[in-house]
Amino acid sequence: MTLWSGRFDTAPDPEAFDFGISFGFDRALFEDDVTGSIAWADALGAAGVLSADDVRSIVEALKSILAEGRRDPAYVSGPDEDVHSFVERKLVERIGDAGRRLHTGRSRNEQVSLDLRLYLRRRILLLQDALSTLVEACVAQAEHAGLALMPSYTHMRRAQPVLVAHYFLSHAAAFRRDHARLAAAAAEADALTLGSGAVAGTSYPIDTAALARALGFSRVVSNSMDASSDRDFVASFLFAVSLAMVHLSRFAEDLIIFTGEEYGFFELADASATGSSMMPQKKNPDPLELVRGKSGRAIGRLTGWLATMKSLPTGYNKDLQEDKEAVFDAEATLHVSLRATYAVVSRLTVNADRTGQAASGLLLATDVADYLVSRGMPFRRAHEVVGALVRRLLAEGRDFSTMTLKEWRDSSDLFGDDVLQAATALASVQARRTPQSTHPDAVKAAIGESRSWLQGLRRNL
Ligand code: ARG
Repeated sequence: MTLWSGRFDTAPDPEAFDFGISFGFDRALFEDDVTGSIAWADALGAAGVLSADDVRSIVEALKSILAEGRRDPAYVSGPDEDVHSFVERKLVERIGDAGRRLHTGRSRNEQVSLDLRLYLRRRILLLQDALSTLVEACVAQAEHAGLALMPSYTHMRRAQPVLVAHYFLSHAAAFRRDHARLAAAAAEADALTLGSGAVAGTSYPIDTAALARALGFSRVVSNSMDASSDRDFVASFLFAVSLAMVHLSRFAEDLIIFTGEEYGFFELADASATGSSMMPQKKNPDPLELVRGKSGRAIGRLTGWLATMKSLPTGYNKDLQEDKEAVFDAEATLHVSLRATYAVVSRLTVNADRTGQAASGLLLATDVADYLVSRGMPFRRAHEVVGALVRRLLAEGRDFSTMTLKEWRDSSDLFGDDVLQAATALASVQARRTPQSTHPDAVKAAIGESRSWLQGLRRNL
C-alpha cells in the first residue's frame, strides 16, 4: 500500500512504480525525517489540530522508531516507496489511528526538502572537519619544513625561490576557502520549508516561526511555491564540493609531479603508495591519481544537477528526486578524497637538499635585477643587463654562483662584492616584504594565524 493508493483502482505496474522508488537511497534521510516529523507533531498539537494525547503517543513512537533505526540500520528497509512512507508505516504499525493523523496539513514536497536541509546541516560539519584536518597536515608540513627552500613555478618553469612552508600554506589557503564555502551552502539550506504544504501553503494555523526555532532553523522560506521546487542549496553544496575537489585535484597533481623521479622534491611514504604488478621498482601515487580522477565525478554531479533543474516548471516535480543521489555521491566522494589526501600529506617527507638545489641558480635573476635597482638603475634597464648575463651563463653552462667579482663588474659597475650574498635563494626570500610573501617572518606569522584558526574551530565544537 502506498500513501496515495485511495485514488486508484488498480495496483501500480511494477515497471512504473519501482522506477520511482527512492527508499534505496533516501533511507540516508531516516533520522532527519523522524526529527522533522516529531517537530511537526508538536506544531500540530500547538495549533490545536492534534490532541495532546495523540501528540504524546506520536512523539513517543517516533522516538522509539528512531532509536531502533539507529541501533539496527537493517530496520530501515522494506517495500516502501520512500523514507517518508516507511516512517509513517512504522508509526501506524505501532499506534494505529494516531499515526494516521501525523501527515495532516503536510506534503512530502516540503518534507523531503526539509529532510535534505537537516541532512546537509549535520553532514557539512563532517566535511568541514575533514577539511580542517587536512589544513592541519599542511600547516604541520609547513612548520616542519623550517627554512627549507624550493622553486616556485609559473608556466611550469622555475620562477623564484620560496619557502617549502609557503608552498604547503598555499594549498591550506584554498582548503580554508572551501571550508567557508561549505558554511555558506549550509547557511543557504538553513530555512524551514514546513508550512508550505504541497505548493500553496498550509490551511492549519501552524506557528512556522516557532517550528523553525524548534528545528534550529534561523528563518522560514518566504514563498511556498518557490519552496516546493527550490533546490538552489543543493546546487550550492555541489559547487562547494566540486571546487574543493578541484583544489584537491590540483594538490594531487603537484604531489604526483614533485614526488616523481625527475623532481624528487618530496618522498611518498610507503604506506601511502602502491606498487606495480610487473615493474618491481615502481612506487606509484595511486591515491593521489584517484583523487584527481574523482574530481571529474564531483563536477559531473554538479553539472548533472544543473541540467536537471534547468527545465523544471514552477512547483514540485518528481525530477527533483534526483537531487539526493547527487548530494550523497558528491559528499562521499569529497569525504573519502579528503581522508586519502590527508593520509598522503601527513606522511610526506621533504627532500630539502633536492628542493634547495632546484631553488638556486638562474631563478635568482630577479633578485640580481633588484640589486641593480637598489643601486639606482631603472628596473627595465636592469632587466636587460641581467637578461644578457643569463644568456651568456646559459651558453657557458654556468649560473650566478660561479661568477667572479670581475665578471660581475664587467656586466655593470654597479655590482659590488655584496652581490654574491644577495644572489642566494635565502636572501631572495628574505628580500620579500609583504605579509602574503614568502619572507620567513611572514610565513611564520601565517603559520601562527593558521594555528589560531584551527584552535578557533576546536573551540566552536
Ligand atoms: N521521493 C520524493 C523526492 O525525493 C519525495 C517527494 C515526493 N512527492 C511527490 N509528490 N511524489 O522528491
